Amino acid sequence: VVRKPIVGGNWKCNPSKVSELKELVANIDACDTSGCDVYVCPSTLHIGIVYKSFKNGAKVAPQNCNYKGCGAYTGEMSADQMVDMGLEWCLIGHSERRGEFGLPTPPESNSLLAMKCKYLLEKGMKVIFAIGEPLPVREKGLKAVMETLIPQLLEIKGMLDPARVVLAYEPVWSIGTGVTASPAQAQETHRAIRQWIAKEVSPSVAAEIRIQYGGSANAKNAPDLSKCPDVDGFLVGGASLKPEIAEIVAAVA
Ligand code: G3H
Repeated sequence: VVRKPIVGGNWKCNPSKVSELKELVANIDACDTSGCDVYVCPSTLHIGIVYKSFKNGAKVAPQNCNYKGCGAYTGEMSADQMVDMGLEWCLIGHSERRGEFGLPTPPESNSLLAMKCKYLLEKGMKVIFAIGEPLPVREKGLKAVMETLIPQLLEIKGMLDPARVVLAYEPVWSIGTGVTASPAQAQETHRAIRQWIAKEVSPSVAAEIRIQYGGSANAKNAPDLSKCPDVDGFLVGGASLKPEIAEIVAAVA
């Protein structure tokens, strides 16, 4: 099975000024998308400004979605609105939304995220679903890591359509810290996730589903990480705000 690599740039709550968007869009537009799917997650306020800007086929994926649709849901975004705007992808489950850094309150639970995932797929959207473990769990080793990741996957296991769902493995301790998982750590975790999917869903889904790595990925570490057979690309935070995002895409393609 050949899995097409996929790289996402998560701008999170950046940039602070609309005037800075032009440069960030140019960085994404400079990515060669011929051998790699590329998506970018602008902040909610900026989606409407940039969503038609990408000439290289990069997709715009909101960083969140509700699970109910349009209506009296203050501060929320619905898949219906995304579909209407021609958006195809949405990111859910990021640790910064699961509450790892204190936001939001209350944090998004596995059950809530399963509802969001179901709703997005029902509306015809594709989903990037992020999972990860905190440092004290990683320090206990792979078995403990999987004991943390499996509950994050359990409620969406019936939804793991490789054509429409991408998993993003993001160890929480590596996000924004400059500490990247080593290729060995990333590979053993991605492989364990795939083995779990093979057992719980099917070997073909496990072989076909794409699993991105996220956590301080940059132009320097991307070439080695992308050599890992079970790493299918990156979900990039900080480096997606810089021209080096094009080098990261080039490293995986
Ligand atoms: O969504 C992206 C991840 O949180 C990674 O962020 O590359 O700044 O560590 P980072």
